[in-house]
Amino acid sequence: MLFRVKVMRMAGGRIPEDVIQAVLRAHDIVETVGRTVHLTKSGKYLKGLCPFHSEKTPSFTVTPEKGIFHCYGCGKSGNVIRFRMELEGYTFPEAVRVMAEEAGIPLPRGAGVPAEPSPAQLERQKLIEAHEYAAKFYHYLLQNTEHGKEAKEYLKRRGMSDKLIDRFMIGIAPERGDLLTGFLEKRGYDMRLMEKGGLVAARSDGTGYYDRFRGRIMFPIRDRDGRTIAFAGRILHDGQPKYINSPDSVLFNKSRVLYNFHEARPEIRKSGRVVLFEGYMDVIRAWDAGVRNGVASMGTSFTEEHAAILRRVAEEAVICYDGDDAGQAAALKTAAIFESAGMPVKIVLLPGGLDPDEYIGKYGPESFVRDMIGQPMSAVKFRLIFLRKNHKMLEEEGRKDYVLEAVRVIAGLDSPAEREFYLRELAREFDFPLETLRQECARIRSAAQKKPIPGDKSGNRWNNGRNETAPPPAGWVPEPPGRHHVERTLLYWMMHDAEAAEYVRDKLGDAFQAEDHAAIAAYLYAYYAQGNEPDVTRFFSTLQDERLERTAASILSMETVPPCTSDNLEAYAEEVLRRQRLAALKERVEERIRAERAGDALRAARIAVEIHNLERQLRGKATRPS
Ligand code: UTP
Ligand code: MN
Repeated sequence: MLFRVKVMRMAGGRIPEDVIQAVLRAHDIVETVGRTVHLTKSGKYLKGLCPFHSEKTPSFTVTPEKGIFHCYGCGKSGNVIRFRMELEGYTFPEAVRVMAEEAGIPLPRGAGVPAEPSPAQLERQKLIEAHEYAAKFYHYLLQNTEHGKEAKEYLKRRGMSDKLIDRFMIGIAPERGDLLTGFLEKRGYDMRLMEKGGLVAARSDGTGYYDRFRGRIMFPIRDRDGRTIAFAGRILHDGQPKYINSPDSVLFNKSRVLYNFHEARPEIRKSGRVVLFEGYMDVIRAWDAGVRNGVASMGTSFTEEHAAILRRVAEEAVICYDGDDAGQAAALKTAAIFESAGMPVKIVLLPGGLDPDEYIGKYGPESFVRDMIGQPMSAVKFRLIFLRKNHKMLEEEGRKDYVLEAVRVIAGLDSPAEREFYLRELAREFDFPLETLRQECARIRSAAQKKPIPGDKSGNRWNNGRNETAPPPAGWVPEPPGRHHVERTLLYWMMHDAEAAEYVRDKLGDAFQAEDHAAIAAYLYAYYAQGNEPDVTRFFSTLQDERLERTAASILSMETVPPCTSDNLEAYAEEVLRRQRLAALKERVEERIRAERAGDALRAARIAVEIHNLERQLRGKATRPS
């Protein structure tokens, strides 16, 4: 395994290392965390309730000496910059920029926002500017001209007030198809760039350009900073396609952008909750009903990237897709993505196949907020309801199949109390002996536990609704305590002692068993190679990878670490090698058996020699490499 150490890449210009160090010095972790978390002293560290997940007993710690925080509950950890990133949803450069400003640390030219934009940045700026103009232009046409009359009536019929139309900058792209083009040309925009951004299209005969959106109601799409970067255009009457979205461009990436995220972010953060809708109209109507934390993906499906973005600002997601079959199936897929991202998720099931917009129209905004958004069901419950569609529930056989499949879903739950709850419900409803269901559930769980879970996609229980026959992994099997303890201890020493790191580098290189450990070791070698002194806070800021930071922080939080004597160092490094040889030995033995079975005696004999050598190495220290 070779790990390339990442170069710090900044959005627009890189931030120099000394600025990062100054920011770290200027912001005391205890003071920063103390603004949001009530901390009490507890030995070497301070304790409090974790701001990143909900809990009743504190598992969140701050170690002032090391300048790091670590939550034993949700696993979040890092230095003071990471804390602000997590809390406020900043990217690394954003956090550094904000924190530098707060501390009055001057950012040199080129850091964060470069004084001299590159040609690519200039293009982006121009394109954003054009989009902002276009949004205002379309909005003006809708609100103030004949072009907008029909669309306006249509929107009114659909319950959109002027205030709402203004708020979301809804507009009209008239049928004519030359107005925006003329507007942009007059202002001297590079029309080839406008074409790339999807605002205009080139005539096939090469005589110029025309508006890409025609006869459509226009919804501006904004990025996380509120800048207009794309449009969705809905056809005025019935027809196909119903929506046209801007193409992906230098500004717009459908798998990352969420409609209304910029507006919804404060409320998402405040409530800890994000509500995910399918359609733009749903977001807008729900907003009007008082749901201020609603967003939607771009018609294309919800992605892991979306989940990662939301996870930084929300603790929990509520999916409120259309109530029809397609909407329900999509909700399950999206739920699986949230779970894979480690985010708790609930689902609203709208009755009668309605979409949120229709529900509000039919039952009113109060009922929507109170009975729907306010009463989401657990993903498991939703899944159980959804499963019924696949079975003939009026027939004995169908009901039995359903119950067995339902038990499989329930077996995937980590919480015993929850499993019991749903099993009871199932037993009651279908008049099944509870004991039988419990046994079946236990059987499925133990069968799943015997199998290693490849890649540990522990949250992904639904398999995206497919592969129903395979038992779901029953939560993930925790690794036996101490399995990586040796490697972790070595890394602990290496983080505090450059010589220890050098010793391990020569002896092991990146031959750590756990991939994260190998990566951290690689970062450490690079860190010391650059002439840095041991300094965990500083080292942390070079990691820039949430998972690695988490692993590194949990290593730093180890309770008991033996002293870093040269005997200990040697013994621990030796132990890592020993385990590696053991693993290699096991592999070779299996290989020999396979060769024998295949009748390949020559190969089997050759492997036997290797096995012999490995065994010898394992027995004595004589063969240890030095
Ligand atoms: P819907 O068909 O549910 O539309 O598609 P809607 O948002 O409820 O709009 P109204 O109420 O009919 O006016 C849901 C979402 O799927 C994407 C859009 O993001 C839309 O908001 N979509 C739909 C497209 O991208 N293209 C289409 O042709 C249709
Ligand atoms: Mn709709």
